[in-house]
Parts: sequence; structure tokens; C-alpha cells
Amino acid sequence: MSKLGLDYVDLYLLHWPAVEKTDGKEWRSVNREKWRALEKLYKEGRVRSIGVSNFLPHHLEALFTDAEVKPMVNQIEIHPGFSQQATVDFCWDNNIIPQAWSSIAKGAVLENETLVSIASKLSKTPAQISLRWILQNRAVPLPRSQRPERMVENASIFDFTISDEDMEALDNIPQCGGACANPDEREEF
Ligand SMILES: NC(=O)c1ccc[n+]([C@@H]2O[C@H](COP(=O)([O-])OP(=O)(O)OC[C@H]3O[C@@H](n4cnc5c(N)ncnc54)[C@H](OP(=O)(O)O)[C@@H]3O)[C@@H](O)[C@H]2O)c1
Repeated sequence: MSKLGLDYVDLYLLHWPAVEKTDGKEWRSVNREKWRALEKLYKEGRVRSIGVSNFLPHHLEALFTDAEVKPMVNQIEIHPGFSQQATVDFCWDNNIIPQAWSSIAKGAVLENETLVSIASKLSKTPAQISLRWILQNRAVPLPRSQRPERMVENASIFDFTISDEDMEALDNIPQCGGACANPDEREEF
């Protein structure tokens, strides 16, 4: 039994990759050593799934070289203006589920005119357009809200489809808020 009173943890993530800028030439072995600790928890049955967060393809490739268990999830920042599609595709090619944090860019996408216009056309909210766009780009949105009515709104994205034309418009909007974090360039936050 954990301190949280749980028999097991559902998903345990390594939050940020060690990278050359912060960990020097040893960054690969730092990540592998941390990953071994997660593998141990997984093999002992104390954690149901293990994964990483904010890993780019080259961080994952380095981890794969002697990983016994591959990450099951990679939780990365995704919102319109920051699709990280190459990382999403790489994840699926390696049976890793890409989860999208900041999937409405902490609210910053809600006033973007492309989202507002598509939302109005489909009788949806801009938040729902952002979340549905993520889903159609093959990632799992992970919105955060303290308000029950918004939780319902954010979950109601399975009864409509964004057209290819509108998907392309959303794919091509410029960065609209969010951290747009590059783990190779900035420290963990
Ligand atoms: N792995 C990582 O490195 C990392 C980093 C950051 C966050 N995360 C995780 O990602 C999840 C969420 O990401 P995030 O915190 O960046 O935020 P987010 O989900 O993009 O935005 C959350 C903000 O948007 C508001 N909001 C939610 N739904 C809304 C809606 N339908 N309409 C209008 N406003 C809405 C919320 O306010 P109300 O609560 O008032 O509704 C809150 O202020 C969290 O679970 C967090 O733990 C992971």
C-alpha cells in the first residue's frame, strides 16, 4: 500500500529527459538509469504502466538501446500551433501512446480566430475544436479543468469530425500560446 493509500499506481512517468545541455555527454546513460528504476517498479507489479514525458524521438531512440520494457506513454505538449506531429508519429511507430498536455494551451487557443470560426461553423466551442484536432492527429488530449461543466464539455468531442480542409487550417496556424517547450533547449518545468 502506498502513502496515497493505493495498492498500485496506474501510470508512472519520467517527467523530463536528461539532455546534453543540462547533463553533458552522459545524458543517455542518465535517462537509462532513471528508466531502470521505473522498469523495476513495473516488474514488481507496483506500477501498472510506465512511460516518459517530453521525450523527442532521439531521446526515445537512445532509451530503447538497452530498455527491457519500452515506454507505454509519452506525454508531450500539443495544441494548435504546436502539433509535434513527428514525435506523435514516431510514438505510434513504436507502440507508444502519445498524450497531449496543455491541449488547450492553458486557454490561450480559445480566442484564436481560426478555432473560433471553425467552432462556430460546427456549433462547438474552441476548446472542443482544439481537443478534437488533437484526437484526429492521433494523440490523446489531456485537458485539465476544475469545473464540472467544462469537464463535460471537454469530454464531448466524439460526436463530430473536423473536415480535412479545417484540419489543414488548424495544422498551419502559427504558435498560439502554450510553452512550446523544447526539452533540448530549456530546463525542466
Ligand atoms: N508532462 C508535463 O510536462 C506536463 C506539463 C504541464 C501540464 N501537464 C498536465 O497536463 C494537464 C493539463 O495541461 P495544462 O495544465 O497545461 O492545461 P490545459 O488543459 O491546456 O488548460 C487548463 C486551463 O484551461 C481552463 N479550461 C479547461 N477547460 C476549459 C474549457 N473548456 N474552456 C475554457 N477554459 C478551460 C482551466 O480552467 P478551469 O479549471 O477554471 O476550467 C485551466 O485554467 C494536467 O493534467 C497537467 O498535470 C503535464
